[in-house]
Amino acid sequence: MAEEPRRREFGSFPKKPQKITPIATANGKSDEEFIRDYIKPSQEWTTWIHPLTQKIYSLEFLSSHELSKDDFRTCFGIIETTSGVDYKNSSVGWHPAMKRKEMKSPDLRYILVKDDSGAVHGFTSLMPTFENHEPVLYCYEVHLLPELQGSGLGKHLMNQLITIAENIPSTKKVMLTCFTSNLNGLKFYEKIGFTKDDFSPADRTLRGGKVVRPDYVILSRETAHRGLDGELRTIEDHDSDDIEI
Ligand SMILES: CC(C)(COP(=O)(O)OP(=O)(O)OC[C@H]1O[C@@H](n2cnc3c(N)ncnc32)[C@H](O)[C@@H]1OP(=O)(O)O)[C@@H](O)C(=O)NCCC(=O)NCCS
Repeated sequence: MAEEPRRREFGSFPKKPQKITPIATANGKSDEEFIRDYIKPSQEWTTWIHPLTQKIYSLEFLSSHELSKDDFRTCFGIIETTSGVDYKNSSVGWHPAMKRKEMKSPDLRYILVKDDSGAVHGFTSLMPTFENHEPVLYCYEVHLLPELQGSGLGKHLMNQLITIAENIPSTKKVMLTCFTSNLNGLKFYEKIGFTKDDFSPADRTLRGGKVVRPDYVILSRETAHRGLDGELRTIEDHDSDDIEI
């Protein structure tokens, strides 16, 4: 992968911006300010009702350093449960220490999904950052335990990320990385308007003619204003395009 331009790969870290930018401003905000300025949540924002079981879950927004040890451990366990096999079968491999370090990245923020006993059943993590010199909102993780999969919650969480990206001035897109083996994940992202990003790694042809396909793809969805600011748009406004891998 070394010959590709710089991109966020599993287990790598973003560079800090050198000057005050809307991204640096966003990363300098407290959680309360971040919610107020970028999510602008309604009264119902913190509550999620499962459409089939009617079970009530709460959404909690917080920075990586605010995660309790128990919640951190649960989030790590959820990643291992839902995506451990994909990591282990990939060229990246599963490296718990590296993943834990990434999960504690200072500018990383979490939206936790908790049941009424306070146990975490899913989460997403996000970071305003620069990718290929462009301001983006990077989605590091989105993972739900099986009982919440297919409930519309994944889309609801991604909608929050899109709203955040729309509200941080100059942000061009929401970006993420997905293993090509995660066909359900790819279909989900396709359905909510993500397409293969221009910086996604291309196939490589070795000297002997063998074609090596990368085992992950970088996906993105542009903000409505493409970094120039503009009106808010929700996932429902998108027609889905096939993600070619
Ligand atoms: C991926 C994940 C976050 C999606 O969340 P979800 O709650 O299951 O998805 P939703 O119910 O919100 O689905 C949103 C839309 O995508 C569609 N969709 C979701 N998965 C799909 C699939 N496998 N095939 C086709 N469509 C799918 C839904 O039908 C829905 O469409 P609609 O808006 O027309 O109703 C969740 O399934 C999950 O945690 N999976 C395991 C972990 C994982 O793979 N994470 C991604 C790592 S990159």
